[in-house]
Amino acid sequence: MSTQLKILVGMIFTLLTCVPLGVIALNDLGHDLGAVPKNQATGMDQRAAAFDGRAIEVGADLFGQYCYPCHGKRGEGIPQVAPPINRKDLFDGRRAKEIGWAGSIAGMLKNTIAAGRAVQARPDLYSAKMPTWSQEYGGPLRPDQVDALVAFVLNWQAEAPEVNAWPPAGAPPPTRTPGPTATPGPTPTPAPTKAGLIAVCQNVPAPYAGKKAPFKFDDKAVLAAGKQIYDDKCAACHGPLGKADGPAAAALNPKPANLADKTFVQGMPVDCHFYVISEGVKGTGMAPWKSLGDDALWKVLIYERSFTGLQ
Ligand code: HEC
Ligand code: HEC
Repeated sequence: MSTQLKILVGMIFTLLTCVPLGVIALNDLGHDLGAVPKNQATGMDQRAAAFDGRAIEVGADLFGQYCYPCHGKRGEGIPQVAPPINRKDLFDGRRAKEIGWAGSIAGMLKNTIAAGRAVQARPDLYSAKMPTWSQEYGGPLRPDQVDALVAFVLNWQAEAPEVNAWPPAGAPPPTRTPGPTATPGPTPTPAPTKAGLIAVCQNVPAPYAGKKAPFKFDDKAVLAAGKQIYDDKCAACHGPLGKADGPAAAALNPKPANLADKTFVQGMPVDCHFYVISEGVKGTGMAPWKSLGDDALWKVLIYERSFTGLQ
């Protein structure tokens, strides 16, 4: 082949590769180049929308697992437990102004979900505490999972109803229903056989099986540290004394375990207890709390076992 012919063939191939690139560029930059009408989506818009769609789906799953016990299935709130979060003022900037948030609405939602609200704004209105969710603040979720939750909550924006979730303090408080009365614990049963073990403890996997607590069960400092973690992260569902009567328990299905029930705790040996709080229970409101670290988990475990006195 002559040199000229080779050059010609090379040029033809170069041109052929440019055509698809040009089509993609036109598709994506169409708006900027004026080649695609402003109201028609470019390829890039469509891919962004598909990405948002996936984030919303992931967010919906997480919401159905972790948020509905307090905020209701569709974010409609649960009276006296937690406010509705599908409301108009949360999206149009009024709530942001009220709490002194100067950034974007997405930023406000992200911050609230990631860090939680350590101080209850109105314990007279809502008895639960908004937990911390992001691992960055010691919660159970990854930052991308928090982003997915933000995308899901923002999805309510278009049809958010007007609800007065935060009436002024002077208004008469909603009447409280009395808490459930404590039922006497069942009488202790003898040490369990394998058949007496609760479902998740039938097969404790390798790194957990046989693990022993690195602290004494009557160490006061350990118990105090465990109580703090428990009150902060677990009591909303399991109740202040483990009786499964926390403000979020009513809406949960399955219900949280009653950690004050001796028969139940006997069916959950220490290694399995540690396994459950590390890995959570799939398909229930019980999240994996591994990110708290072994030290904190053993302390909260020891505190939880003080409800029954079983070791
Ligand atoms: C244990 C109950 C509980 C759970 C579970 C819970 N929340 Fe909350 N949440 C609350 C309470 C109570 C408040 C009000 C906090 C306050 O006093 O400012 C709140 C506030 C909020 C707010 C701000 C509302 C406002 O008007 O300022 C958002 C957003 C929110 N929660 C999202 C979520 C998401 C998303 C999840 C799931 C990852 C979740 N919450 C799980 C109890 C809960
Ligand atoms: C959002 C509600 C919620 C929170 C918060 C929560 N749990 Fe749970 N927990 C549950 C539910 C629901 C179950 C029942 C799971 C099942 O049916 O197996 C459960 C079960 C358990 C069990 C028994 C295992 C079993 O299969 O029943 C232990 C132990 C436990 N939780 C410890 C904790 C500890 C420790 C914390 C805090 C670090 C915590 N939980 C926070 C809802 C919660």
